[in-house]
Amino acid sequence: MKVLGIETSCDDTSVALYDSEKGVAENLVSSQIELHNHFGGVVPELASRAHLVNLLPLVDHLLERQNLKLKDLDGVAVTAGPGLVGALLVGLSTGKALAMTAGLPLVGVHHIEGHILANALTADMVFPAMVLVVSGGHSELIHMPEVGVYEKLGGTLDDAAGEAFDKTAKLLGLPYPGGPPIDRLASSGTPGRFSFPRPLQKDPRLVFSFSGLKTAVRLAVEKLPTPLTEQDVADVCFEVQAAIVDSLSHKLFRAARLKHVKAVYLAGGVAANGGLRAEVAAEAKKRHLHFVAPERVYCTDNAAMIAYAGWCHLYAGHRDDLNLDSFPRGTLTSWR
Ligand SMILES: Nc1ncnc2c1ncn2[C@@H]1O[C@H](COP(=O)(O)OP(=O)(O)O)[C@@H](O)[C@H]1O
Ligand SMILES: [Mg+2]
Repeated sequence: MKVLGIETSCDDTSVALYDSEKGVAENLVSSQIELHNHFGGVVPELASRAHLVNLLPLVDHLLERQNLKLKDLDGVAVTAGPGLVGALLVGLSTGKALAMTAGLPLVGVHHIEGHILANALTADMVFPAMVLVVSGGHSELIHMPEVGVYEKLGGTLDDAAGEAFDKTAKLLGLPYPGGPPIDRLASSGTPGRFSFPRPLQKDPRLVFSFSGLKTAVRLAVEKLPTPLTEQDVADVCFEVQAAIVDSLSHKLFRAARLKHVKAVYLAGGVAANGGLRAEVAAEAKKRHLHFVAPERVYCTDNAAMIAYAGWCHLYAGHRDDLNLDSFPRGTLTSWR
């Protein structure tokens, strides 16, 4: 079964082909980073317009590379939400039009379910599992007894983990999105030069808070002589990353203990972070929990995860009509 995936929830235009016999045959991403970098964050209208310009040519390119016609496909999966509404509408309208033209089944995918199921593209998932979903818009702990069953156990009280990376990077004069440069620079940082808070660690609730980190970083940076040296920036990056990773890992394993799961997983853009992957791998090993980090290309927004999640739905017999709506917000619900 060949499923075309379309992802346009934020600032990446992506199309992919998932073939249930071969795996991911194609995963094309047209990034808008250059476009939004200038503004220090995603400008929703510019994102929608860039999707409009790039999406159909990207689909065309994928079909050409795969030597396929639309009618050779078995289904179309498209991100229906959550995300920027204008951006979602471009993907949804395109997905519907392609499905209608070729008489293909259509299925709307929840972006977060896509991120979670991306783990299955790397290795078979083990259940019951605890998933830490961490991206620019989400920081959630999700208990997953099996595929398609999701129980949200906690989340952030303020900023998402990705936002914490992005906002502290901005304070350091690093480009948007801030996660990748902080990840890279942290590896040459000196441990212990700065000390940033790990809020709520003693709080039994499964909640995160990252807004205090931003203030702590701003105060630390203000005390340094300007301009900051490369080493100053690297040292701050090291401690920012350590503070975020500690907070996330602490609650992930608390939740894992609470639900007696067999596996822990990471999902979303921040799952690409080297520090987080290493810490979760080490802690999982100590506790004899199964853990395989998803491939980095399947952590940040991509259509391969949407095509795969779409295939899971189509295989289970789920279909959407052409009147499928977008949902800019909306929690992940179980299939049953
Ligand atoms: N290596 C990394 N380390 C930390 N954060 C990262 C890394 N790579 C990407 N990110 C963060 O992931 C977020 C984007 O997540 P993604 O799932 O791609 O988008 P969205 O939030 O729109 O769903 C951004 O906040 C970015 O800074
Ligand atoms: Mg995402």
